[in-house]
Amino acid sequence: MRTITIAIDGFSSTGKSSLGKQLANYLDYVFVDSGAMYRAVTLYGLRKGFISETGFDKEELIASLSEISLEFVNNSEGIAEIYLNGENVEKEIRTLVVSDYVSPVATLSEVRKKLVELQRKISEGRGVVMDGRDIGTVVMPDADLKIFMNASREVRARRRYDELVQRGDAISYEQVLENVTERDKIDSTRQISPLKQADDAIVIDNSEMNIADQFHLILQLAKDRIAGRV
Ligand code: CDP
Repeated sequence: MRTITIAIDGFSSTGKSSLGKQLANYLDYVFVDSGAMYRAVTLYGLRKGFISETGFDKEELIASLSEISLEFVNNSEGIAEIYLNGENVEKEIRTLVVSDYVSPVATLSEVRKKLVELQRKISEGRGVVMDGRDIGTVVMPDADLKIFMNASREVRARRRYDELVQRGDAISYEQVLENVTERDKIDSTRQISPLKQADDAIVIDNSEMNIADQFHLILQLAKDRIAGRV
């Protein structure tokens, strides 16, 4: 059977990664969470002190990029987790601190160049589901299926808040809403590879949709492409 490439883009906390994992798992494709890569670079910058409350030393971060090695390794349940220089940072990259600084980091062309190269390399010549902001526009402009996901800001903030609270993070809904709003703004207005819908993307607003319905809808779109019906 022919394998296809699936790009899922959209605003923050629209459930792109959850959907991407489900799809990749079902189709037995590789799943690439490109946001995890931007988050891991941000974590590196925070740990090195290049990023802090007092400022962001962009030059230092850029100069250190060659020291950053990223890798996805499957855990015992077959779910890909990100490793930063050999360390599993899957949990740490999801904190609100990282979320607060990741969008400024993702505006840097040097960072994007490195990560886009890696994203293309990981997915080369195989069935892939990749989620992010510029996948259908820049990373895989020839993707067979492009989805652009959205949901109301409040619904997105509520979902992310519930997720973080469940993990035990001490945060408020207002903090999460503020972060989601701020990231949407930076991601959509940056100069390089801004978040935007590809012309040939299918837009899905999942504010009122449950996970199972959404999965079946998109799986059908994927199956149509695999079978060459579209
Ligand atoms: O999970 P969530 O939607 O909150 O974000 P994410 O996919 O983990 O991405 C975190 C951040 O990385 C985004 O807000 C963007 O600033 C950046 N990003 C990007 O610029 N390009 C991508 N392809 C993926 C993420």
